Amino acid sequence: MFQSVITGVGYYVPEHVVKNEDLIQYMDTSDEWIRERTGIEERRYAHRTQETTTTMAVEASKKAIEHAGLTTVDIDFIVFATLSPDYYFPGCGVLLQRALKMKEIGALDVRNQCSGFVYALSVADQFIKSGMYKNILVVGSEKHSFGLDFSTRGRNISVIFGDGAGAAVLQASDSTERGVLSTHLHSNGDEAEILAMYNPGTHANYWKDTPFANFDEAEIGQMFMSHSMIDHAQNFPYMDGQSVFKTAVVKFPEVIMEALNHNHLQPSDINLLIPHQANLRIAQFVQKKLKLRDDQVYNNIQRYGNTTAASIPIALAEAWEQGKIKEGDLVCLAAFGSGFTWGSALIRW
Ligand code: ACO
Repeated sequence: MFQSVITGVGYYVPEHVVKNEDLIQYMDTSDEWIRERTGIEERRYAHRTQETTTTMAVEASKKAIEHAGLTTVDIDFIVFATLSPDYYFPGCGVLLQRALKMKEIGALDVRNQCSGFVYALSVADQFIKSGMYKNILVVGSEKHSFGLDFSTRGRNISVIFGDGAGAAVLQASDSTERGVLSTHLHSNGDEAEILAMYNPGTHANYWKDTPFANFDEAEIGQMFMSHSMIDHAQNFPYMDGQSVFKTAVVKFPEVIMEALNHNHLQPSDINLLIPHQANLRIAQFVQKKLKLRDDQVYNNIQRYGNTTAASIPIALAEAWEQGKIKEGDLVCLAAFGSGFTWGSALIRW
């Protein structure tokens, strides 16, 4: 059996920096509220017309492929995680394949929101371990700024999210010392509606309890997009932040411990934990719970906000660039998000 080794990482964030103060012109909020509740100081927004989820992924991918010492034609599979695709369909994987002028390889889109990159990495890991592919490009990219409610009504969500992309190249290796040790994936749909974007969708009021998706009977039949959906701001994400927070602080430590126990390791063995950058307060809670030192946890949400599927690969590439990950280090990735879905990956770098 092959081992999958991450041989290249790369990230891209748009140039446009949006500070907390900049949001005050659109909504009733404050730098103090945002910093105190989330730790976020600023985020990046993609250019409205010149950049998309895929174009950002292209930039991150080029860096990851170059770092791996490969060219785009060497890649034999793409796994692309995003919740903000360029089109409703087809997915971003094929757009990336086209933009990078790759061979006619398989391109899989993963829809697991904040856990998207960990799910994508796990899929790629299985394909490599089984011997099916040798060089897989795993990408997380998001252009949230295009789909947020910038009025006061949407402030509990819109202040949190930012745009960006991160990528990693996984390669088959004979190494017995390095590589992805294990991945652990979970879901529980009981609370699927508390962090969700219901529209456009086919639910047509089927899930009656959704706080935000009750349409006139007359409109059903043209459900994907309707005037009243837009008039009632039902085309934006919904989040019950406190419930998300409460579940996240349980599931993050649980899934990290699952990975460590599976490999007979302890929290003290972790050289770097990269949690999905949901909220700095969640990451600090997890750090405390696992008794990790500051230098064992990497956070950059202060500068980029929550970039969902892109947050882990951006942080991974940035931490590597800063010399915080060295060969032989034990790196733990952990994510939790909408679904709920959650997961972890333990990597010997
Ligand atoms: N600026 C100012 N006031 C605000 C803002 C804002 N941006 N957003 C909400 N408020 C107000 C509310 O209206 C409310 O006012 P009220 O008391 O007068 O009614 C008050 O602040 C408290 O609102 P809550 O929603 O209860 O605020 P909470 O303390 O829960 O903080 C937050 C909100 C930051 C979203 C928090 O619940 C949280 O971080 N939850 C975790 C969710 C998360 O991380 N989501 C990321 C996506 S999912 C993921 O990545 C895992």
